[in-house]
Amino acid sequence: MSSVKALWFADDRLSVLDQRQLPLERKVLELSTAEETAEAIRNMTVRGAPTIGVAAAYGMVLGHRKDPAAAEATAQLLRSTRPTAHDLFVGVDTVLSAWTSGKDVLAAAEDYRESIVRQCQSIGRHGAPLLGAEARVLTHCNAGALATVEWGTALAPIRVAQQEGRKPHVWVDETRPLLQGARLTAWELSQEGISHTVLADNAAGLLLQRKKVDLVIVGADRITASGDFANKIGTYEKAVLAKTHKVPFYVAAPWSTFDLALESGEEIPIEERSPEEVTSFQGVRSTPRGSPAWNPAFDVTPAEYVAGFITPTGVFKAHELRGVLERHLGRRGHS
Ligand code: MRU
Repeated sequence: MSSVKALWFADDRLSVLDQRQLPLERKVLELSTAEETAEAIRNMTVRGAPTIGVAAAYGMVLGHRKDPAAAEATAQLLRSTRPTAHDLFVGVDTVLSAWTSGKDVLAAAEDYRESIVRQCQSIGRHGAPLLGAEARVLTHCNAGALATVEWGTALAPIRVAQQEGRKPHVWVDETRPLLQGARLTAWELSQEGISHTVLADNAAGLLLQRKKVDLVIVGADRITASGDFANKIGTYEKAVLAKTHKVPFYVAAPWSTFDLALESGEEIPIEERSPEEVTSFQGVRSTPRGSPAWNPAFDVTPAEYVAGFITPTGVFKAHELRGVLERHLGRRGHS
């Protein structure tokens, strides 16, 4: 198991590792209302699609504790925080359905968390055989334990390979503008002694051209039925580069990330965040005052760039996804 846990729930408090402070400070925040949970998701104290979904599920529990009549309002508050991660909506809806049918909301949230952790473990087992004895893996953003509560999606196969005695090396894109790669992925890998090197986002092209990458593995925030997917801004260009250099590009995700209701990537809502995340970092300005900035948080990679989707039950091609998803999720679109 991974040594990192993004959040835990006890005594009607949701404790979350403050991911804005890592790696410089390991600070835990305690959230006791749905409003505080929504704000922690919005300001990225907790982040990464599966972790957002689990946090929102517990946010629903906290909302239920305060006002058992406010089911729909609490769900709306949590849904309004970040539009791209499909897991957010699955986490909210899972507890909402327990709430409105008079079932135990905490049990629903706990089951949801456990299911995400189990699925990520399975992703690790199914993805690990893709890595040779000393595989050099490029990843973007943070799709590790911090982003999924435990284990990770893109990092899970790497963790399993390391635990099995292989020696993976991870190339970690720094991931502008919030540095989830440099700050969070590098921190997680350091915790477990996994060999890695951080690179500026714009160095990935040279790295691939020099044949220093055996495979790319990334996570996803939303995957459509056709296999188009949204992930952290900068993912698309890595996929195009990987194809140009004939390096296989994999996407790892639990079922909650798949959105059967959407066919094409063009339908995925893309979150745009404050321009200040681009014009300054941690309060220090890096652009001239008055220069405008554009800050889309995600981009969309068409399915044609993906060698395989690493899921909890195996690795599938894009054209196999629809059948696999209908078997696992049913036509409702989520588990
Ligand atoms: O904006 P973030 O940090 O929440 O974005 C996270 C990502 O893009 C991850 O790659 C994605 O959520 C997959 S996490 C397993």
